[in-house]
Amino acid sequence: MIEPSKKLSSLPPYLFSRINTLKLEAHAKNLDVIDLGMGNPDFPTPPHIIERLCETVKEHPRTHRYPQAKGMPKFRAAAAEWMEKRFGVSLNPEKEVLALIGSKEGIAHFCMAYLDPGDVALVGNPGYPVHFNGVILAGGTVEYVPLKPENKWLPDLAKIPEKTARAAKIMFLNYPNNPTAAVVDDLKFFEEVVAFAKKYDILVVHDNPYCDITFDGYVAPSFLQVPGARDVGVEFFSFSKTYNMAGWRVGFVVGDQKLIAPLEKFKSFLDYGVPSFVQLAAAWALKAPQDCIKEISKRYEVRRDAMVSGLAKIGWQVDKPKATMYLWAQLPEGFRDKGSLAFCENLLKETGIVIAPGAGFGPYGEGYVRMALVTHDNRFHDALLRLNKFLKLKEIKK
Ligand SMILES: Cc1ncc(COP(=O)(O)O)c(C=O)c1O
Repeated sequence: MIEPSKKLSSLPPYLFSRINTLKLEAHAKNLDVIDLGMGNPDFPTPPHIIERLCETVKEHPRTHRYPQAKGMPKFRAAAAEWMEKRFGVSLNPEKEVLALIGSKEGIAHFCMAYLDPGDVALVGNPGYPVHFNGVILAGGTVEYVPLKPENKWLPDLAKIPEKTARAAKIMFLNYPNNPTAAVVDDLKFFEEVVAFAKKYDILVVHDNPYCDITFDGYVAPSFLQVPGARDVGVEFFSFSKTYNMAGWRVGFVVGDQKLIAPLEKFKSFLDYGVPSFVQLAAAWALKAPQDCIKEISKRYEVRRDAMVSGLAKIGWQVDKPKATMYLWAQLPEGFRDKGSLAFCENLLKETGIVIAPGAGFGPYGEGYVRMALVTHDNRFHDALLRLNKFLKLKEIKK
């Protein structure tokens, strides 16, 4: 039997696949599934973006050819203009913007472009699995930086041991955060990160796909707004959540040319980039009036309010997040001892509700679950009724 590579085998078990299997079984039994599992937006892409894609495919057959892998000039110019308008960050579109087949692709390949076996990456945890799995696949060593509620789910930089900080090559951050939905209140934390990165010579990767899924007037910053951030860090953006374009597979990374050039080089050996018609429609998404973003956030905000207050009524207190489409909830009392995976498995079997176990986001996610507010508005009431019934069981069945 030929074994897959050690790198692949050394990945931690993918806990979500257990939930996916149960979900498929439930579908096969025709159970009524309410899926709050994956952060996969249920709203369609705004019509003006779809129209631009259709027109482009129809009218411009040149877009059917291989694309420009680093991004078409129009795409890179639109991304740079958007960064300027949205954050006041000026970039050279030629050299400081790189198109990605979604930020997941970009982050995983960024790890491969930078890490050699044994290189250390500091990874905030709980976190988006690609931040640690990307490091492992590249042969690197993950050093988890615990994110805890008492520090508002931000890494406590002062608690990172000197030896670990000295050994680290890369550090991953993500605010607004998946899965905790935490945000930075202002630029202070990013300023501390820049000082820390300079002191220990660490490359900061800020993953910012939720910057425009924000509520209650909160405005998320860019890491690159902080003086000196460009010397030490790059920032990843995605169209998946902001414009409901998760299936289109498009994003971009920005930063100093010397920091993003290795990723461009690495990708040039692997892929041909984002289809040209997708790039042009995505560029239009950034350039067109941005009213759709407010509408999208508003719809999540309404769901958030309904779900947080509904959960409180059935005795499950959950923080109201200022951003993202997630609720990050501590397991209710009476359900903590068997852990988040058992809780989610039982919930699915008993009620048909799919949510994500905190343990799937790494060791520091245990004790929590994540609910993604991505199902039709009229399903949340039903979800609450079912949850209420489930919580009254007061114990997890074997
Ligand atoms: C923190 C974070 N980064 C990156 C991604 C991936 O986004 P994309 O669809 O651009 O690959 C996600 C998706 O859920 C995410 O939560």
